[in-house]
Amino acid sequence: MTEIATRKTVSETEARRANRAWWDLDADDYQDEHGNFLGDVDFVWCPERLREAEAGLLGPVPGKKILELGAGAAAASRWLRVQGASPVALDLSAGMLRHASEAAGRSGVHVPLVQADALALPFADDAFDIVCTAFGAIPFVADSAAAMREVARVLRPGGSWVFSVTHPMRWAFWDEPGEDGLVVRNSYFDRSPYVERDEQGRVTYLEQHRTLGDRIRELVGAGFVLRDLVEPEWPEGHQQIWGQWSPLRGRLFPGTAIFVCDLPA
Ligand SMILES: C[S@@+](CC[C@H](N)C(=O)[O-])C[C@H]1O[C@@H](n2cnc3c(N)ncnc32)[C@H](O)[C@@H]1O
Repeated sequence: MTEIATRKTVSETEARRANRAWWDLDADDYQDEHGNFLGDVDFVWCPERLREAEAGLLGPVPGKKILELGAGAAAASRWLRVQGASPVALDLSAGMLRHASEAAGRSGVHVPLVQADALALPFADDAFDIVCTAFGAIPFVADSAAAMREVARVLRPGGSWVFSVTHPMRWAFWDEPGEDGLVVRNSYFDRSPYVERDEQGRVTYLEQHRTLGDRIRELVGAGFVLRDLVEPEWPEGHQQIWGQWSPLRGRLFPGTAIFVCDLPA
């Protein structure tokens, strides 16, 4: 299948269809490539390998009801379970959730798995103390402002929403881990998503860009207060490349942004 990459706006329906198909198709490759890095029972926020165990961005989790969006194989939810929380792992892709189920069997740590779209969460209002995700759902939905409002709906007042995404400034560069990825090539202000299409013109993969200001306006618009914006630095001695994230680029500019937000009580 030939892939044609462009920057072009797509509808929410096209985005949902492409996301589900892509992540089902890619689930085995994603886990083959990143499964060891992510572990079976571990909460890693980003390719810079910042772990929740050291970062503590969620605050104390024992006894907390936690929803993990775009959970993939759900290693983070299993880690939260072991810490004494009550997590639910949600993902759009049955392929990714199959890996979550296999990892539960391997590790003996079981959490509820839910197949659903982050834009239509099958939960009551105020159901969770914390919602979180490492690179799940948010970079892929066309209407991320609606996703923020949906997260606010299921969070209780006083709850927290913590999510990591590609740092917005990376969109000015090619997705290259080497020297080619050090030169500004695109406008940071071009919000059209990165889209791959097959020969019939169907969208097969997409990622959405929001500037830092866009993201903050989406969060504030949904009622959140931004408590912190974490830009993990590339750790000394960490050599593992993940796609466009590499030690070369990581030494020079941020690759990940982690938004730490609260819903006022
Ligand atoms: C880059 S993976 C991240 C998975 C996992 N959080 C991790 O750290 O490996 C993105 C995940 O988001 C999920 N996803 C994409 N769009 C979604 C949506 N609209 N609702 C829920 N999950 C979605 C994908 O199926 C995929 O599992």
